[in-house]
Amino acid sequence: MKILVVGSGGREHALVWKIAQSPLAEKIYCAPGNGGIEDIAQCLDIAADDINALLDFASREKIDLTVVGPEAPLAEGIVDLFKSKGLKIFGPSKLASRLESSKVFAKHIMKKYNIPTAGFEEFTTVESALRFVKDAGRPLVIKADGLCAGKGVFVCATIEGQEQAINSILKDKTFGDCGSRIIIEECLLGQEASIIVISDGDNVITMASSQDHKRAFDGDLGPNTGGMGAYSPAPVVTSEVLKFIQEKIIIPAVKGMNSEGTPFSGVLYAGVMITKDGPKVLEFNVRFGDPETQAILPRLKSDLLEVILKSVDKKLEGHTLEWDARDCVCVVAASGGYPGEYEKGKIIKGLTDVAWPEQGMVFHAGTKKQEGQILTSGGRVLGVTSMGNDIKSAIDNAYAALDKISFEGMFFRGDIGKKALRKG
Ligand code: AMP
Ligand code: GLY
Repeated sequence: MKILVVGSGGREHALVWKIAQSPLAEKIYCAPGNGGIEDIAQCLDIAADDINALLDFASREKIDLTVVGPEAPLAEGIVDLFKSKGLKIFGPSKLASRLESSKVFAKHIMKKYNIPTAGFEEFTTVESALRFVKDAGRPLVIKADGLCAGKGVFVCATIEGQEQAINSILKDKTFGDCGSRIIIEECLLGQEASIIVISDGDNVITMASSQDHKRAFDGDLGPNTGGMGAYSPAPVVTSEVLKFIQEKIIIPAVKGMNSEGTPFSGVLYAGVMITKDGPKVLEFNVRFGDPETQAILPRLKSDLLEVILKSVDKKLEGHTLEWDARDCVCVVAASGGYPGEYEKGKIIKGLTDVAWPEQGMVFHAGTKKQEGQILTSGGRVLGVTSMGNDIKSAIDNAYAALDKISFEGMFFRGDIGKKALRKG
């Protein structure tokens, strides 16, 4: 089969790496890819959200299956476009993608189908929102409705912070039309976990649990980022917690989307807070998590391409996945300054000193190859990923691998996986 993977991050490197192991995969293209993906797939000079150029390529090259990494092309309707031309593609339709592209839509689905989530109110005017927070006297979370590249969520303990967030989104239009509506919701306490499933519209298959580290610095301090590291499995997701998430969150969401006439097929990712009253949804995403995918796929023993095809062909029922019992830890190496401004074009040293996969799998994110060298080209640069017989050895192995790698300004969190250590 000829496969096209859309995207350029660590998630896409992990997807291409795993798909390449399938006997069904003959040739893999990646648009646009990165300096690491180039070694295993043919990279194309097409942006991930240029859905018309992607369609032209897939039609011309007779691509058998397209796998979409990021949310932007899904929200723009790449799946509807490809399907209208008879091309096979893995992911939800534009309407089903609203579970991620509109927080208001997602909240209404959760309310309608009794899916546990934080209590919320929706606002379109600055005045009504300010009136609501005036006497609240408690931490609240303020969220822009649309896709804001992970920047549209403000967890605010004080009234000043709440007013600032409301003004920034609704008045100053920091996120443009993505912020024409906001959600103000109750602040949940607990540990976060990511539950990622593959759906064919009716049936779901659950991937291994994982936990992301959203904040930039150790101890969950500093600004929110795309994710500074992940591990799998997440011990906070006990079998009881997982059963609850499957029965009270995932299945009702998939059934609910069916009842709405917008069946959900593709990857459904529930970001949940495990509160003292049980798991509650923080957000739905309609794609694989990044960096969670880097920590999950090395543990997947089954053929990923096969399960993706079963989803696309609506034949998931009865399919099972086999997992490696070992733990896996992914530590993200980022450019100095990320998630704010950072410099690019730094030479990355030591990549070939890490024996893949025994010592680590170094998934590339913001990298590019130039005259035989690998240079930094983004905020999150690498996801250094290692397995271990327990979480402690997985952590030690990932940091030992990271120790061999360097570039000017490189920074990473030193506490990825520590929460699991406390549990274990
Ligand atoms: P989201 O994009 O909605 O997942 O929000 C990004 C991050 O903000 C989450 O991963 C949480 O760390 C935090 N967050 C979002 N909603 C809430 C909430 N209701 N209570 C506490 N933290 C939240
Ligand atoms: N790791 C968070 C996300 O993929 O949205």
